[in-house]
Amino acid sequence: MEKEHLAWFLEARFGMFIHWGIYAVPGRGEWVRQQEDIPEEVYRQYFETFEPVRYDPRAWARAAKAAGMKYAVMTAKHHDGFCLFDSSYTDYKATNTPAGRDLIREYVEAFRAEGLKVGFYYSLLDWHHPDYPIAGDRFHPLRNHPDYQAHRGNLSRYADYVRDQVRELLTNYGRIDILWFDFSYDEMRGEAWKATELVRMVRALQPWIIINDRLGGNLKAREPEEYAGDFTTPEQIIPPEGIRNETGEPVPWEACITLNDHWGYAAWDKNWKSPKTIVRALVECVSKGGNFLLNVGPTPKGEIPAACVRILEQVGEWMAQNGASIYGCGHAGLPKPEWGRFTRRGNRLYAHILERGVGPVVLRGLAGRIAYARLLADGAEIAVGRPWNAAEYPEDAFLSFPGAELPDEWDTVVELVLK
Ligand code: GLC
Repeated sequence: MEKEHLAWFLEARFGMFIHWGIYAVPGRGEWVRQQEDIPEEVYRQYFETFEPVRYDPRAWARAAKAAGMKYAVMTAKHHDGFCLFDSSYTDYKATNTPAGRDLIREYVEAFRAEGLKVGFYYSLLDWHHPDYPIAGDRFHPLRNHPDYQAHRGNLSRYADYVRDQVRELLTNYGRIDILWFDFSYDEMRGEAWKATELVRMVRALQPWIIINDRLGGNLKAREPEEYAGDFTTPEQIIPPEGIRNETGEPVPWEACITLNDHWGYAAWDKNWKSPKTIVRALVECVSKGGNFLLNVGPTPKGEIPAACVRILEQVGEWMAQNGASIYGCGHAGLPKPEWGRFTRRGNRLYAHILERGVGPVVLRGLAGRIAYARLLADGAEIAVGRPWNAAEYPEDAFLSFPGAELPDEWDTVVELVLK
């Protein structure tokens, strides 16, 4: 399972998801056309008024980097079929909006320049393409429209369109690190997308690329399909115990999580998760062997909302001091402690203390195994020992924590160097 081309991804642990397209204009999330049954002619106004005059992907890339993120995945095409990239297979693309240019190219160049890995999200659903089936479809915005009740489209031809666009994305923008398909449902899965042929083309064009699991295969199977991908994608949930396949081996995974309650820009949704919540979610993912892909939905003008930027900055301050407990770390092979979580990289064990409690902090079963301990943030020594009142717990080690309160209320990390 542990494939070499996944090494950077498992090391990186933290990435930025970017949902951006003409749906930012209505500002009610990327499903707006479906949720409000908006006909194509009406949705067209957003295509005609998409004017991202403040689009500066270098600022996005700097924000991602400062937050401690190591990669990004941006929507090249979402379910509405609109393409941020200059595809020669459709007119429904950024170059024909007032934006007037290939917005994906600028994203790729900006993120690469900051040293971040670059990924494309590509929607398998397409509510604009005439070959996409509507009759019997659960999601299409025209599913209830009387004129489309018999519209079967031409799925085979549509799958060729997907292939042609994916070929463009993997040919015209240099090295791409991640391909993130979304999503399969009902009969629309696997070979309905001509998935084997598609994945073969992808791997031939960019052999190092890593692909997610949403073409509809089962990566947890004993023998996953060729198109099952490289990592699984729990959405808006952190798997309670990480993810293993049928033979019990860990499967690479990445939890994608919104910063408020929408992926695409939602002008009125201010339900931001706090930086503390984000830090703790990241630590939780890493402690269970997973990655964390945190979403932002830029405005129609092209900016990451200021509230998001501030949250990212604060997460970045924590990461600047404590990143060593995240990058390249994973499951510690120890039970979850009462006071928080462990992450681990080789002989470095990181105690993420979330609850101070009273008295010494117990490290179950680690008596005699710790060479030294220090606060990860500043390197200051933390005494490890066997306090007088712990005589009855000979297997355990104890941190004699000097403060009554934790120095970092979000997550105080103690680095334990194991013998
Ligand atoms: C869901 C939604 C989609 C979003 C994705 C992110 O599949 O359909 O809008 O892009 O989640 O994982």
